[in-house]
Order: sequence, then C-alpha cells, then structure tokens
Amino acid sequence: MTDRPDPFSAPFGSLFGDSMTIAELAEGEYNYGGSAQPLENFSFHPATHALHYGSTCFEGLKAHRQSDGTLAIFRLDDHVERMRQSIGRLRMPVPESDLIRSLIIDAVEANADFTPNPPGSLYIRPTFIGTAPNIGAAAAPSDSGLLYVICSPVGDYFAGGIRPLTIYVETKVPRTTPQFGMVKSGANYVMALGPTLDAKRDHGADQVLFATADDITETGASNFFLIDDNRLVTRQLDESFLHGVTRDSVIKIAADLGYEIDERPLSPAELAAWTGEVFLSGTAAVVAPVGTVIVNDAPNTVGDGQPGPNTLKVREALTSLLTGDADDPHSWRTLVTG
Ligand code: COI
Repeated sequence: MTDRPDPFSAPFGSLFGDSMTIAELAEGEYNYGGSAQPLENFSFHPATHALHYGSTCFEGLKAHRQSDGTLAIFRLDDHVERMRQSIGRLRMPVPESDLIRSLIIDAVEANADFTPNPPGSLYIRPTFIGTAPNIGAAAAPSDSGLLYVICSPVGDYFAGGIRPLTIYVETKVPRTTPQFGMVKSGANYVMALGPTLDAKRDHGADQVLFATADDITETGASNFFLIDDNRLVTRQLDESFLHGVTRDSVIKIAADLGYEIDERPLSPAELAAWTGEVFLSGTAAVVAPVGTVIVNDAPNTVGDGQPGPNTLKVREALTSLLTGDADDPHSWRTLVTG
C-alpha cells in the first residue's frame, strides 16, 4: 500500500480498488464467471433501463483490517439479504444468497491490499442495474441486468473526522415514498439531495433528519438515535425507511452494554426537549455524534455540543467489533483471504 492516494485526504468513495466482480442477468439467470476481473468502464446503450426508469439498487458494507493482520467483512450475510430484498422490490429476479456472497468475497479478496488500516476500511459497493435497451419499458422490468461489486478504500464519511454534526429536522418534504423507503435505491438518495443542499445552504446543516408529519425516521444517509446513561431510543422499523445493518448492530451492542432499548415513534418536539445525547449510524457514518439539532428552524445544542460519553462508548464497542479487538458474540465477522 505505498504510493497510493490517502483515503483520509480523498473524499469518501472517490478512490477505487483495481478489481471488480460481475454477474450478468439474462433470461432470468445470473451468470458469474467465478473470479474478479480488472475494474473497467461499462459501455451502455443510451436507452438502458436503469438510466431511464431507475431499475437500480445497491448495498454498502465494509471489510476491516483486523488487529491480528487478517481481513474481515462485517455483517456480510445481513447485507446480502438486504440486497436480495431491494432487487425483489425492483421486481427483478432475486439472485441466490450464495451468488451475492461470492461476488462480494471475491471482490474483497482481489482488492484486499487496498484496505487502509483502521480507522480506515475497504468500503464495498454491490450494485444492481437493469440493462435492457428499451425506453418503452416504463411499466415493465428490465429483462437483463448486471450485478457487480466494486471496492473503495475509505476514511471518514463526514469530512473532519469525529466531530459533532448539525442536523436539520425536515417535517414537510418527505425523504421518499413510504413503500420504497426500505429499498436501497439511488432514487431515494437523489430525492433527499435537494432538501439536504437547502439545509446546508440555509442552516449550515450536515444532514437532514426526515420527520414527515412529525414522525422522525432517518437522515438521507444514516439512522437516528437518542441515548442517555440508561437507554437507547430509536424509531421502530417499518417500510418507510432503511433498515440499517449498523442500526441493528448499535441496538444489539447497546443491549449487550446494559442499555434499555426503546424502539418507538419519535417527534421533533421530543428531540428538541431531549437532555441526553444524539447520534447517527450507518455503514459509512459508523456512529456519528450530533452536536446541534435544528427544530422549527431553531438550533438546539445537544448537551454541551460535544460528542457525549454514551455515544463514544457505543462507538468504541462497535469499532472494536469491526477491527477484531473484541470477541464476536453475534458472529458478525467473515474472515477472508487478504
Ligand atoms: C452506507 O452507509 O453504506 C450508505 O449507503 C450511505 C451512503 C450515502 C454512503
């Protein structure tokens, strides 16, 4: 890993390993040659279905260099199952779990030496696109597709490392449609982009917390938590927002640490009155402390505005699991070669 750009200086996701894996979907079957190949550009017909009608979804997971020098993918099987669910929601043929697993493991092993040391990691991006060249197929699924995996050496998702974030609570503009909220599709992210850019410009916010009709769900790129010395609070799952794998890890870790877990509806009024800590979670974001919440256009400082002890305790417990510094009671690490 010499003479390569530093993932902590480059924007998250802008550097890439030199290999990828690809399975082609044709006539209802996915075909994978069984090994990684050099990362290279695709060539598409301008009428490609994904470009016009959004037949695309993705995953985000990470491989971490372990303290003993080995390499492990975190929560591989959970991400595989979420990818299958997203592809199914696009009404495309759902690949076997083992196929997605192999595409991910082979891509990680081929790119292993791009993995930066902790706190960096190798971010893994499995992607599905419908490739049928057919601009008439607005109300029909693509009959062909590509399922592929690329890898990106990454540092922090939020520029500036662990710092208290500012979030703007948006109650009017929804993040996406309720039935698509749990699908990891690019359309959800582009819909959140406008409100996020506006909140950055108008309020200096890092992220928007969507709370349509006063129902807090998630930010564009992460799930949302309240924590104090005794309990962890987060919105209960339904189809309206992404079922974060890191969200699930945080809940299980907090329970293991002895926190009471409270999954229930959350309102902006409760957030504005909250006297404990606030944080975001995501594969990219890990556990990111929030220092200011803007509710009804009024900024509220969370605690003393700095990352709080409970947030840091959960973050530390999670990162120890990611890097093999702690035992793995839930069997979340998959060791790979590299
Ligand atoms: C992730 O956390 O993996 C995501 O997909 C968020 C993305 C905006 C980087």
